[in-house]
Amino acid sequence: MNQRKTGSQDQSSQAFDAFDAFANAIFKLAETFLKSLFEIFKGISYGTIPYFKLGIITGILCLIILFEIDYKVLNLFGFGYLYPKNATLFSIYKWMIVSSPWWIWGMAQMGKKKRFQKMIDDVIHFSNLKAANDRHKGLDFIFDKKNPDGISYMRLKQNAIPISDLEKAKSNFEAKFQIYIDSFERVDGGEVDINYSKIPLTSNYRFNFSEVNGMDEFIVGKTLFKTVKADFSKTPHFLVAGQTGGGKSSFLRQLSVTLLKNDPESELTMIDLKRGAEFDIFENIPRVNVAKDMDSAILRLNQVEKLLDKRLSESGGGLYGRRSYNKTNFTRHVVIVDEIAEIFVAGSEFSEQKEDIKKAKAILSKIARLGRSVNINAVLATQRPDVKALDSQIKANLSGVICYTMPNDASSKVVLDRGSATDLPLISGRAIYKNGSSYMEVQTPYLSKDIAYRELKEFYTKDEEKIMVPKNDEYFESAEF
Ligand SMILES: Nc1ncnc2c1ncn2[C@@H]1O[C@H](COP(=O)(O)OP(=O)(O)OP(=O)(O)O)[C@@H](O)[C@H]1O
Ligand SMILES: [Mg+2]
Repeated sequence: MNQRKTGSQDQSSQAFDAFDAFANAIFKLAETFLKSLFEIFKGISYGTIPYFKLGIITGILCLIILFEIDYKVLNLFGFGYLYPKNATLFSIYKWMIVSSPWWIWGMAQMGKKKRFQKMIDDVIHFSNLKAANDRHKGLDFIFDKKNPDGISYMRLKQNAIPISDLEKAKSNFEAKFQIYIDSFERVDGGEVDINYSKIPLTSNYRFNFSEVNGMDEFIVGKTLFKTVKADFSKTPHFLVAGQTGGGKSSFLRQLSVTLLKNDPESELTMIDLKRGAEFDIFENIPRVNVAKDMDSAILRLNQVEKLLDKRLSESGGGLYGRRSYNKTNFTRHVVIVDEIAEIFVAGSEFSEQKEDIKKAKAILSKIARLGRSVNINAVLATQRPDVKALDSQIKANLSGVICYTMPNDASSKVVLDRGSATDLPLISGRAIYKNGSSYMEVQTPYLSKDIAYRELKEFYTKDEEKIMVPKNDEYFESAEF
């Protein structure tokens, strides 16, 4: 009796196990089906589903069923009896086959989501990312998409992790996903897009004058996806910083050539006390004054100050008169200094030069504060952006920053308010461009001295008188600025 009872218990538990396994399988199938359906809906709403490709495959499958090619193939291998003969079964079979590309795509997305999420979790772990509210939930993968113009982007749910922290983890993202990140872009609803390319940013971007259109425009560089330009009428003053060999002087060269060619009236005051030779090719141009020593630098800066005062009074009292005056009245005058520290620091031990240095600082500060309204701009380059080399008040007015590789986080922070210039690859011409609060990695255009010289030839004067370095303010009085 007992034995019989145990036997029936065994049988019923086996039946129960079989039922359990069957229910589990059905449950898994339903779960996969629903998840796949969810991925299809997500694909439709985010536009990531490849309608065209899936549509073509669906069309081919329709033709296969219409011409009974599937049956013929099964028959050929002796499995013709498997083909559904019952009308209902055939209907189910038909719809399953025809819609299969979409389900399979949905399932592939499920796999992709899992893989990407795992990689994202690894990046979070390596980069020690934390949410701002400290309730760290990680980043959630939403989708990954490639636009027809070649720009790929991955959308993530931010879960309160600040974008600035994501930017710090940029190189970990790049290494894990084998991609090159252009930017992190905020999307409404607490989401962020990582814009990326699989092709690295060029390390050889040749200056191309035809890419410049506006009179006040010049090229800052190429990002992974676009050419970035700056405009003096929008960003009046620039700082060009970075350690030796980054490309500061080359940047000043291409910018100066662009300005002179683009705006036939533009004037430049160029100061290079470090090497004295960086601006040689500009010396014979009447619209350009080049200073190679402290005395002529002070003289030139004094001249620019006079010009600034003159324009400010003409425009109705400077800053307060800005509203009533039309700034296109004034010719653009740009003061370009290669290695600002040479003016501010190098000569400071000589007491007789102390007053001059103070004066130079005061003039540059005045240009940075008031120059914008009267088309007088400053572009200052330095290897050492510390307080000694660059007055903080002047720095605060240089809203455009081109920062080449920096030796340490501290100096990068002084220039960019963040340490990212230490992570730049050691490629000449590779820089971070900061304009207001936006940051981007760029490869700046390169223009060799030889080609620059050829570009400038049309501007060189034949009149030897004009290119002589003036000894006093007479030149300024007679010059038309
Ligand atoms: N945009 C660029 N693309 C490619 N190579 C560049 C670029 N700019 C500069 N280079 C290369 O790097 C070299 C050094 O550039 P540059 O003299 O402009 O550096 P720098 O920052 O002024 O250095 P230093 O602080 O010593 O004056 C150039 O001779 C050139 O070969
Ligand atoms: Mg230089």
